[in-house]
Amino acid sequence: MANNEDQFKKVISHAKEYGFIFASSEIYDGLSAVYDYAQNGVELKKNIREYWWRSMVYLHQNIVGIDAAILMHPTTWKASGHVDAFNDPLIDNKDSKKRYRADVLIEDYAEKLNQKAEKEIEKARKRFGDNFDEAQFVATNERVIRYKTEQREILERMARSLDSENLADVKALIEELGIADPDTGSKNWTEVRQFNLMFGTKLGASAESATDLYLRPETAQGIFVNFLNVQKSGRMKIPFGIAQTGKAFRNEIVARQFIFRMREFEQMEMQFFVRPGEEMKWYEYWKETRLKWHLSLGLGAENYRFHDHEKLAHYANAASDIEFNFPFGFKELEGIHSRTDFDLKAHEEYSGKKLQFFDPELNKNYTPYVVETSIGLDRMFLAVLSTSLQDETLEDGSTRTVLKIPSILAPVKAAVLPLVKKDGLPEIAQSIIDSLQWDYNVVYDEKDAVGRRYRRQDAAGTPFCITVDHQTKEDQTVTIRHRDSMEQERVAISEISEKIHNSISYKAWLQ
Ligand code: GAP
Repeated sequence: MANNEDQFKKVISHAKEYGFIFASSEIYDGLSAVYDYAQNGVELKKNIREYWWRSMVYLHQNIVGIDAAILMHPTTWKASGHVDAFNDPLIDNKDSKKRYRADVLIEDYAEKLNQKAEKEIEKARKRFGDNFDEAQFVATNERVIRYKTEQREILERMARSLDSENLADVKALIEELGIADPDTGSKNWTEVRQFNLMFGTKLGASAESATDLYLRPETAQGIFVNFLNVQKSGRMKIPFGIAQTGKAFRNEIVARQFIFRMREFEQMEMQFFVRPGEEMKWYEYWKETRLKWHLSLGLGAENYRFHDHEKLAHYANAASDIEFNFPFGFKELEGIHSRTDFDLKAHEEYSGKKLQFFDPELNKNYTPYVVETSIGLDRMFLAVLSTSLQDETLEDGSTRTVLKIPSILAPVKAAVLPLVKKDGLPEIAQSIIDSLQWDYNVVYDEKDAVGRRYRRQDAAGTPFCITVDHQTKEDQTVTIRHRDSMEQERVAISEISEKIHNSISYKAWLQ
């Protein structure tokens, strides 16, 4: 995958042209960082959600799912710390009037140092070939040591300053590093200020009686407040997990990069409740398990890496991101957080209700610790879409655009195409649709030459094209064309369903 702006632009325009994603309320010029999922997009999104849900809930006997409301009692957000601490440090450029997240400016600067170090390593790898000892090179090469040390020191200083709310030092750091406005190059910065990311709304009819509410900024709190309800009604024993998918809302200041950073987005979260003291074991378990889930989709192991946090959120004692190689570089796709007993303890304190578990093996009550896995569905969508979109040059020199979406996630599983619009072929194609549509999302397409129809389906990510031709009338067989290899095979109509089934079996993909 090309790591550049052109590839990203291509992804965005492809997403629109092939009915994956539209800007929200586009006829009114859109709404910044809000997007609508179109006819193919909604299917891909649903399939990603299902792939996550099955692996999380169906494949773990000790994990159950819920669907909590978006609106929650306002005290929830006091207890969770979001009212006081869910802030981004903002900085404005006085010349360009553009607003940035101060921490992102610094992180981008530090990442450039990392890239310089990586470049040195790459050069040395080429120079030394098979004899290259990367660990030794990293430990001894002066430049690499300098870049890596500088990067670490910058990130550590930023983490310290943000932790101690020393915003003046965050600004000082930006000035010392000579960080300029990425758009204009100006270094004329304002002070750094904190900005709360929650969207407020009102509950109730009249202005006097209305209650101030927030749209949830994470789905996790709906799980915490239901912890005891689920534990009791499901007779769950620690360790156990509660999973949930749903919308979350954040008034992101720097809303850019398409569906990577949205103001309305969807999360897939799982809170795993464990014995105090065992959280690190489970934290490691979930880091590994979640990476395995990602790798199962075959988007390329080289596209993932862990990033352990220096600066921890107000609730965590350990945290790591699974970063993905998006067209604009490696960025956070999923977070795995050891949240301690912070949330349950806080809800106990604010609600006055006990949220404890009686552990029969230990014969005592305790407030469980929590390990959370939290992935943005939209980010996962972008990871799949951007990696799958490929331009290929074929043997005959022609090119094709193909969306090599893992077949288990593909919006449409098969297109049924009569070779011509006559001789009874459309009727046979329609009867194949009639039988497949009970199990799969399939489409009928009779417009244009069959080659163009293949290309259209390639670009939409459809793994199978089933062509009905004159031979079908003789022997009840069709041609199945495979999207990725473009190979064609002759198959009996009665075998089509099994062919599709085999390629989208959850067991085969997830095992
Ligand atoms: N409950 C923990 C939590 O919400 P987070 O790191 O703030 O942690 C988890 O968010 C995941 O949600 C991120 O890894 C990312 O995939 C997704 N996410 C967060 N903010 C987002 C946004 N503005 N747009 C799209 N996805 C977002």
